[in-house]
Amino acid sequence: MSEHVLVEREQGLLTLRLNRLDKKNALTRAMYGRMAEVLQQAERDASVRAVLLTGGETCFTSGNDVADFIQAPPSGPDSEVFRFMRALFDFSKPVVAAVSGPAVGIGTTLLLHCDLVYVSRDALLKMPFVNLGLCPEFGSSLILPRLLGHARAAELLLLGESFGGEQALAWGIANQLLDDGAATLARAREMALGFQRLAPSAVLDSKRLMRAPGREELRRVIEEEGALFGQRLRSPEAMEALSAFMQRRPADFSQFV
Ligand code: COA
Repeated sequence: MSEHVLVEREQGLLTLRLNRLDKKNALTRAMYGRMAEVLQQAERDASVRAVLLTGGETCFTSGNDVADFIQAPPSGPDSEVFRFMRALFDFSKPVVAAVSGPAVGIGTTLLLHCDLVYVSRDALLKMPFVNLGLCPEFGSSLILPRLLGHARAAELLLLGESFGGEQALAWGIANQLLDDGAATLARAREMALGFQRLAPSAVLDSKRLMRAPGREELRRVIEEEGALFGQRLRSPEAMEALSAFMQRRPADFSQFV
């Protein structure tokens, strides 16, 4: 529902604020759809100079809504989550993220497609795809091994290990570590607002240049991951893991060979 994504405008800055705290900002199809629409409009609106993504001061997002994954798994490139991630991937203006508390699954993946990321000391990032019987998504299987080396990326993507804000900074996933959620949001807002003092075309040209190397390869990997992710979501392994989450019990993969 649209009240789960608040859209705020302050001068040339457009802020998308996730607002579903009772479910730790878990992302539903409707929320992805709304965010895709807002990003596409912001792309066309020359008065928007930057976008800020946040979940507020206590929680970024717990990732895709698990009930949605079970009841209405995304099917193909026209689904809401793909439309949102494609809009983010293709967004020509700077995207800044403010991350406090949990940033799970796509909540971490999407940070790899932002330009500036500010994290709180209490941030907890995690990509538990294999733990859910799934696989990496939206380029993380290419980007993370290149950024961190295979061994470290394997801890994150195969084991689903979590890491904090300090580690995100040390690994180059984040720009700055702040003491708490309020300071993180304030710093991200300040930096995002700063883009309106810069030469707009120079910013766009520079972002395009920085994102260009390897872009077609990344696009191909995103397609391959997307197709596999869709298959895996419908697999018995994923069904077991997702039902286990809803039933608040550990997943039991012993039945699978
Ligand atoms: N989808 C749907 N509901 C979710 C959710 C998700 N991704 N994450 C949390 N929730 C719901 C919980 O079911 C709970 O709902 P309830 O109050 O109706 O029972 C509520 O949000 C609070 O979650 P809870 O787990 O009690 O909070 P916590 O502070 O103990 O833990 C997290 C927070 C984010 C660490 C934990 O909820 C979590 O690991 N979520 C799953 C994330 C996940 O696997 N996402 C990846 C999808 S690829």
